[in-house]
Amino acid sequence: MAPLRLAVIIGSTRERRVGETIGRRFAEEAMRRDDLAVTVVDLAAYEFPGSYPAEPTAAIRSFVQDINRAEAFVVVTPEYNHSFPASLKQAIDYAYDEWQAKPVGFVSYGCRSTGLHAVDGLRTVFTALHAVTVRDTVAFDLLNAHSEQAECRDRLRQDCRLLLDELWWWGMTLREGRAARPYVN
Ligand SMILES: Cc1cc2nc3c(=O)[nH]c(=O)nc-3n(C[C@H](O)[C@H](O)[C@H](O)COP(=O)(O)O)c2cc1C
Repeated sequence: MAPLRLAVIIGSTRERRVGETIGRRFAEEAMRRDDLAVTVVDLAAYEFPGSYPAEPTAAIRSFVQDINRAEAFVVVTPEYNHSFPASLKQAIDYAYDEWQAKPVGFVSYGCRSTGLHAVDGLRTVFTALHAVTVRDTVAFDLLNAHSEQAECRDRLRQDCRLLLDELWWWGMTLREGRAARPYVN
């Protein structure tokens, strides 16, 4: 069985973001597994236009191809004012069919919260796109990230394993489902 193609999407493009470190660390953890083929989709690497264009630009086409190629996603999101960042919504809206009947998991973070408002908002968006969001998340409060270090690291590792197990199950199941019959819409 070919490994599941997992894209880890780094959602923050803010200057001095912490999202890149979090996203790349999570991707390294996922890369330890031989049942996953992991790529990082960093939204800061695409030169997206300032407004939604009538025709897709080269950057949009390249992003949509990256989404199309993947069979499962982990969205790495901070919380901004009890929601997710605009950079993420801008990119998500560039694709449509490419998200369909694929699983999406979340790594979220915030200051004082753990980004769960952002995740709740994203679940609604991905449901509209016919994607399947998985139940468990990896979530942490940046202000407490260094407390009880070893314990915290162990818990995070367990949370990563659970998220990746769920994504793998849904990813393989939906891979087979898409191959067996076209998705309805
Ligand atoms: C505009 C803005 C709004 C924020 N709102 C929240 C919030 O509602 N809840 C929270 O826990 N943290 C909030 N934060 C703190 C961020 O989660 C924190 O700065 C985090 O590092 C942002 O992710 P990034 O560095 O990857 O962009 C906010 C930060 C910014 C810049």
